[in-house]
Amino acid sequence: MWRLDTELGSYAVKEMNRLDAPEWLPWLRAAWRFERAAWAAGVRMPEPVIAPGGDVVTEVPVTGGPAATVRVHRWVVAEPTSQPVRPEVGHWAGETMAELHRLTMAPEPRWAFPSGSGEQAELWPLLVEQAKVAHAPWTEDLAGLSATVKEIYRLVTVEAPRGLAEVIGHADLRAKNILLAADGPVLVDWDLACARVPREELAGCALSLAGWNRPQGMVEATARAVIDGYRRNHGDFPEPLTAVDAAGDLGVEVDWVASVARRALGDGAHGPDDVARCREILPGLIAALPNKLSAAQQLARLSTQRLCW
Ligand SMILES: Nc1ncnc2c1ncn2[C@@H]1O[C@H](COP(=O)(O)OP(=O)(O)OP(=O)(O)O)[C@@H](O)[C@H]1O
Ligand SMILES: [Mg+2]
Repeated sequence: MWRLDTELGSYAVKEMNRLDAPEWLPWLRAAWRFERAAWAAGVRMPEPVIAPGGDVVTEVPVTGGPAATVRVHRWVVAEPTSQPVRPEVGHWAGETMAELHRLTMAPEPRWAFPSGSGEQAELWPLLVEQAKVAHAPWTEDLAGLSATVKEIYRLVTVEAPRGLAEVIGHADLRAKNILLAADGPVLVDWDLACARVPREELAGCALSLAGWNRPQGMVEATARAVIDGYRRNHGDFPEPLTAVDAAGDLGVEVDWVASVARRALGDGAHGPDDVARCREILPGLIAALPNKLSAAQQLARLSTQRLCW
């Protein structure tokens, strides 16, 4: 991310990883249609800037190297925040998510968006074996996650497939993508907008913004505020949220721990720096997974209790 100051104002110029995959551009363009609809609807976000030629990205020449693929927004003067966010920020996030779901934008083309998560759960015993053979110091901790991973796998494969309708959602409404400006929060990073079941996106957002990773438990006032903010703008779901609604996001977490563990063993790592970084973050990720599952198991209770503002 670069800040570009010009006579016309300041811009956030984001250098994109141009992926060699057929879905990369169709996904990005769908995300961009959604982002512009959100901007037109008055959501608090940086103004998206259309690239010359009308597309979402453009190529800029780089001295002595290959061209960079960039996309541009107006720069917003704001501070970062971190999870758990304050309940007021959570309330805003819930309201904002409801507004985005109300756009009811069809997730087309569906093949361009990722689907399913948690497939690494099935391979867990193999991963533990791989760690054992490599004498990884965290082998026992990884093995200790087996019951947690099994329960997540059950949620993902048995409970979650309910055939609920999807819309395009922001899909990364996390503390790292909320900036706090003088006049209130702003939502950035729309590139991953994708097909989501509304109640499932809400569940994952409430848990994450409330700090579901924390050993002392999430901040329940924040989780409730997210859910309450959503309800105010969207109405109630026919059934309260439960852990099943968080299954997809829990599956993503399992896949992420597995990917970091493999790379910490050197398998599929992007160089020595990546191995070192994965080794550094792995213990925290291992410790957090059971906390995330227990936070998800509190959802039913939290979403049936109302909070007054
Ligand atoms: N329009 C903007 N104005 C000011 N700062 C911005 C703007 N857009 C993004 N940022 C800052 O740059 C950071 C990175 O931007 P963004 O989230 O789009 O990139 P990213 O590579 O996807 O990051 P991550 O993977 O951490 O989510 C944001 O967390 C935010 O702090
Ligand atoms: Mg981001």
